[in-house]
Amino acid sequence: MRTRVGIIGAGPAGLLLSQLLRQAGIDNVVLEDRTRAHVEHRQRAGVLEQNTVDVLRACGAGERMDRRGLRHDGIELRFHGEGHRIDFPSRTGGRSVMVYAQTEVVKDLIALSERDGGTILFEAEAKAVEGADTDSPLIRYVHEGEVKTLECDFVAACDGFHGIGRRTIPPGVLRTWEREYPFAWLGILADVPPSCDELVYAHHERGFALHSMRSPQVSRLYLQVAPDENLDAWPDERIWAELDTRLARGGWTLEHGPITERAVTPMRSFVAEPLRHGRLFLAGDAAHIVPPTGAKGLNLAAADVTLLAAAIIRWHDKSDETLLDAYSQTALRRVWRAEHFSYFMTTLLHRDPHQDAYGYRLQLAHLDYVASSDAAAASLAENYVGLPVV
Ligand code: FAD
Ligand code: PHB
Repeated sequence: MRTRVGIIGAGPAGLLLSQLLRQAGIDNVVLEDRTRAHVEHRQRAGVLEQNTVDVLRACGAGERMDRRGLRHDGIELRFHGEGHRIDFPSRTGGRSVMVYAQTEVVKDLIALSERDGGTILFEAEAKAVEGADTDSPLIRYVHEGEVKTLECDFVAACDGFHGIGRRTIPPGVLRTWEREYPFAWLGILADVPPSCDELVYAHHERGFALHSMRSPQVSRLYLQVAPDENLDAWPDERIWAELDTRLARGGWTLEHGPITERAVTPMRSFVAEPLRHGRLFLAGDAAHIVPPTGAKGLNLAAADVTLLAAAIIRWHDKSDETLLDAYSQTALRRVWRAEHFSYFMTTLLHRDPHQDAYGYRLQLAHLDYVASSDAAAASLAENYVGLPVV
């Protein structure tokens, strides 16, 4: 098979890139290792930055999001039993975020591809990228029990942290930076209306907790736990009791309900550079990971492919490679800003088991500053709603 752009991975990055290219008349094929049902139901992110909302609307995937998504104009930081609201529009020239699950973004993009005659091969595992440093790279993949070849002009590795794309770049070319955190998140979905209108990021001496939501009927909640936490040690009553303690605030109660899903996610920061090797490009989690506290993972993936699509379109329409040459540097500048913001939110709000007493007092002073200074709140708001994609 031959196409212009071979895309590995049908996560948000691969699906959005495919849609943006198809809209510009550029033929592409998406290869996805897992089943359609699997990628459509994998519980992950929930907050879309203004940029992500804008690009989804512009590519025709905004209709259901605009009906079902919940616009949020602020978040609450909660500590010492008190809430401190950070308003976004007043500090960001009117920008806000949308609470709309990654599962729904993925369903919308797959439906759009189906409607427009796009090609997504599910249960098609990419095994190798060859000839990345030539003008005719190819992807070897296995589909329906056979080894097949996808020839293309460009390969976009949107295959997540464990994908093969990044590993194709020779070790002497690729540099990586990484930090592991001494904690993880235990996340649950519960069939109970959210107990608040906006997300609550809570710091408690027992650890971090987050109250988020998926819809007016479904709550999404997280607890900081140890990286090797055993889920069996967390029966429903223990989860709710711990959430009650960490999210406590005078005059407010957390509604409990049936837990329909639970999982532990480790936390990591990771960046690979450069994002290009010849005609192979990395985008999204294939290139970088952030801890979820800043709600940036999915949004960074969307920003990367917005830049990559514009670069490929310029090359296709005008035979101009300037944007392709600039892609790695342009994307990475934004990536590192989001890496820092995610690190900032994570260290501000979690309880670090290795921290000394002095460090903890500094952390509390920092929290107090962010909650009480307009300048600090403006910086948080600007980063949370997302910096422009240029
Ligand atoms: P992915 O969504 O990982 O998509 C990559 C795709 O490539 C997958 O479908 C995979 O099956 C496919 N693939 C991999 N290898 C191959 C291969 N060899 N051949 C073919 N296909 C392949 N972010 C937040 O902001 N908030 C959160 O709460 C949050 N929770 C998360 C929980 C988990 C468990 C994980 C893993 C991530 C979470 N994230 C969260 C991060 C966010 O979901 C990711 O940043 C986002 O999914 C990145 O999109 P992507 O398309 O780059 O990668
Ligand atoms: C979520 O709803 O899953 C979510 C929200 C905000 C975050 C992380 C995850 O910072």
